[in-house]
Amino acid sequence: MRGVVGVQYLIHTLGCQMNERDSEIMAGQLETMGYTAAASEEQADLIIINTCAVRASAEDHAFGHVGRLKQLKEAKPSMTLAVAGCMAQEPGTIAWLKKHAPHVDLVFGTHNLHQLPRLLDEASERDEMLVEVWKSAGDSLAEHVPSRRRDGVRAHVNIIYGCDKFCTYCIVPFTRGRERSRAMTDILREVQALAREGYQEVMFLGQNVNSYGHDLDPKVDLADLLEAVEEVDGIRWVHYMTPHPRDFSDRLLEVIGASQKISRQLHLPLQAGSNPILRRMNRKYTREQYMALIDRARAAIADVSFTTDIIVGFPGETEQDFEQTLEMVREIRFDSAFTFMYSPREGTPAARWEGRDPVPNPVKKDRLNRLMELQYEISLEANQGLIGKSMVVLVEGVSKKNDSVWAGRSQTGKVVLVDRVPGIDLTDRFVPVHIDAAKTFYLSGSVTGDPLGAPSALGHALPLLQS
Ligand code: SAH
Ligand code: SF4
Ligand code: F3S
Repeated sequence: MRGVVGVQYLIHTLGCQMNERDSEIMAGQLETMGYTAAASEEQADLIIINTCAVRASAEDHAFGHVGRLKQLKEAKPSMTLAVAGCMAQEPGTIAWLKKHAPHVDLVFGTHNLHQLPRLLDEASERDEMLVEVWKSAGDSLAEHVPSRRRDGVRAHVNIIYGCDKFCTYCIVPFTRGRERSRAMTDILREVQALAREGYQEVMFLGQNVNSYGHDLDPKVDLADLLEAVEEVDGIRWVHYMTPHPRDFSDRLLEVIGASQKISRQLHLPLQAGSNPILRRMNRKYTREQYMALIDRARAAIADVSFTTDIIVGFPGETEQDFEQTLEMVREIRFDSAFTFMYSPREGTPAARWEGRDPVPNPVKKDRLNRLMELQYEISLEANQGLIGKSMVVLVEGVSKKNDSVWAGRSQTGKVVLVDRVPGIDLTDRFVPVHIDAAKTFYLSGSVTGDPLGAPSALGHALPLLQS
């Protein structure tokens, strides 16, 4: 590996938190080599597009980036352009890039990003695109690869890679490979180091976090890991993303209910409310089992908040099927939902059914609108129910849209705008807030006391609020 001086990089990250974490690992390796972060594409000597393949819209976004950067590459041939991430795992993407985007210098995938320094070296010595994508992960997990986490007090920590669930619409098992859990000791060591550096919130990441540990010897599970992290001094909040509704044990619910630190937001992707559709999606639960889980969670966790993901227009979805989804949304009253139109992914079973039994696009759009309308109504009512309550908010910074308020999040993941107090910076602080008003997508309130605990060691030496 060659060291470099005065060379700048820029990473465009599309997709989920796992891609964000991968970008941090790419950035860490680059900074170890001597690269610094570039402020703009024009200044960058290396641009990496870390892609997402989950829906056609995400792929179009990535192709758009690649196309747009052609001009810049022509004007500055010394610049290196790389494509990474989930799309790189798909043979169709490689074929497309070779045909339409020969200005790309390097393509690497989700399983070999820890080899970035060598890949850059090799790419720099070639005239043609270097494609190095592994079909599956190596035998051992790449631990101890440097990473450059973004600023703040919240850190993302991988706990399990890959997905073995094979929902019939989903590309992720193909782009991320089989489930591989990190050893609990490695995860805890990382969390302890983060706490020493001043991080106060960790977000455990996996496509399927409640499969965590089934492949380890001895077997452990997510409840064990969450219990252990509860003991790490300095960590105030613990989140995890994403659980699957199928493997939610009573013990896991108990551990969350008894915890002072673990998020009370349960993100439980429902996907559909009709049993025939759930079966064809291979979700491995029925609407009745999902409802029973909601009831168990309500009983075990005080102030629990539910959020979800829903797909409309899965092949063969009838109006009656869709109405069953609406019915479940009405009954459960999710705090919020990510809603998607079904997007066929090449190589998945549902993409083959889409050819035979598609839901026409206007129908998909109409269902999405009806679902969103209902969910917005419920989100607003749920938020209005919080007016007059107090909650702790982790302030992330001054709102980008309105500089008279700070923007932050509650432990249940709600966006909270907090009136600014002149002369005080509460960025990265946990503050008690009284909720005064509610909108569909956020709450607003005012600070009622001193921030909790000491300021983070990460900077932001702040004066304490006078109450
Ligand atoms: N592992 C997580 C998230 C996977 S991707 C889970 O199982 O919930 C995030 C969301 O994208 C999914 O929950 C699903 O709602 C949506 N999604 C996945 N594939 C899709 C497709 N082909 N078309 C539309 N939405 C999709
Ligand atoms: Fe995709 Fe299903 Fe795995 Fe989630 S659980 S990543 S939706 S296959
Ligand atoms: Fe997208 Fe890959 Fe995440 S397909 S959602 S970036 S795992």
